[in-house]
Amino acid sequence: MHISNRVADIPKSAIHEMTRLSKENENVAFLSWAKPTSGAPDFIGDAAIAAINKRLVDGYSVSAGLPELRQEIVKKLKRDNKIDANIAQIIVTVGAIEGLAAAMMAIIDPGDEVILPSPTYSTHINQVALASGHPVFVPTIEEDGFILDIEGIKKAVTPKTKAIVYCSPSNPTGAVFSEQQLRQLAEIALEHNLMVVTDEAYEYFVFDEHNHFSIASIPEMQKNVISCFTFTKTYAMTGWRIGYLHADEELIPQINKAHIPFTICAPVVSQYAALAALQNSQECVELFRLKYLSARNLMCNRLDRLPSVFEYQKPGGSYLMFPKIVLEQGKNSHQFCVELLRAAKVSTTPGADFGPTGEQHLRLSFCVPDEMIHTAFDRMERYFNR
Ligand SMILES: Cc1ncc(COP(=O)(O)O)c(C=O)c1O
Repeated sequence: MHISNRVADIPKSAIHEMTRLSKENENVAFLSWAKPTSGAPDFIGDAAIAAINKRLVDGYSVSAGLPELRQEIVKKLKRDNKIDANIAQIIVTVGAIEGLAAAMMAIIDPGDEVILPSPTYSTHINQVALASGHPVFVPTIEEDGFILDIEGIKKAVTPKTKAIVYCSPSNPTGAVFSEQQLRQLAEIALEHNLMVVTDEAYEYFVFDEHNHFSIASIPEMQKNVISCFTFTKTYAMTGWRIGYLHADEELIPQINKAHIPFTICAPVVSQYAALAALQNSQECVELFRLKYLSARNLMCNRLDRLPSVFEYQKPGGSYLMFPKIVLEQGKNSHQFCVELLRAAKVSTTPGADFGPTGEQHLRLSFCVPDEMIHTAFDRMERYFNR
């Protein structure tokens, strides 16, 4: 087969594998997907239908996205992220994922090293590889809640380092990197003139004392950051495939050169839906956050009843957590997850998918109804206490 090495080297996605295996079993308690199970608020769909009826969506938009949408994004960035922007600094993308992919294609040359905290979102790892970059993993400090190892990152910088890519709140750990740590990261980036690419997909889902901080709000970082955001999580708009990125005005035309060959522009109907999402009350976002907070507390309570199986760090954000498997058989997280699915009908995601320090962990999603969490943990209790 004539498959490029870039693509051939990408490992099979464990999440998709677990989904496939789950479908072979009936009535599985499913904690594998980082996808909100609630739907988008009705007013968003209504706005899309209105745009269709007005025949606004049959053509392409400009590749960077509808100007009126970018204008709303500029307001949102100022209000919620303390980022001063203008519409020439925004590209509307096909979810955060396409923004991240375009950003990496725009800045990584073959052989460039890209620092990733580990564990991290597996798609970032694959995107670095697709851009022919070389991922360099720096383990996070698990016992302190999977925070960044700033000294470790400093040591990992070499003359070949081009960028640092991170997501906060984190998929898979739920860690929220603090403003203090991100300011230290910015100092490293500025000292070595590195790019920082951020994935802020879970920006609104932070709990307890944690706050979301956008590194692009540091004025000195203006030229060194590409920040990627999405409507997927904030408004439960997963299938609408709509997000955006922010970068320095001079970088945008270059990133756009990577954006266009893959997409031409983001789906126009979804751009109108996103416009409505930003222009209306943001109450739904807080309701989602409160729902995830309560689901996180429930999942932690249930994990507390299985101390001989799991140790965990309480996630400060996102709707994901990353417990460590204390049992000997957890050393192979793939096998562990497949066995858990087969014997207990609970679908999780193997930690090994999320970088070298992910092994011996599994990822659990709590963006599911409470009954699903209860069913999954009732089954796990029966299985592990058998
Ligand atoms: C950290 C992170 N970034 C990006 C995405 C995908 O975002 P989008 O649907 O906006 O492409 C996900 C989805 O799970 C995610 O967890």
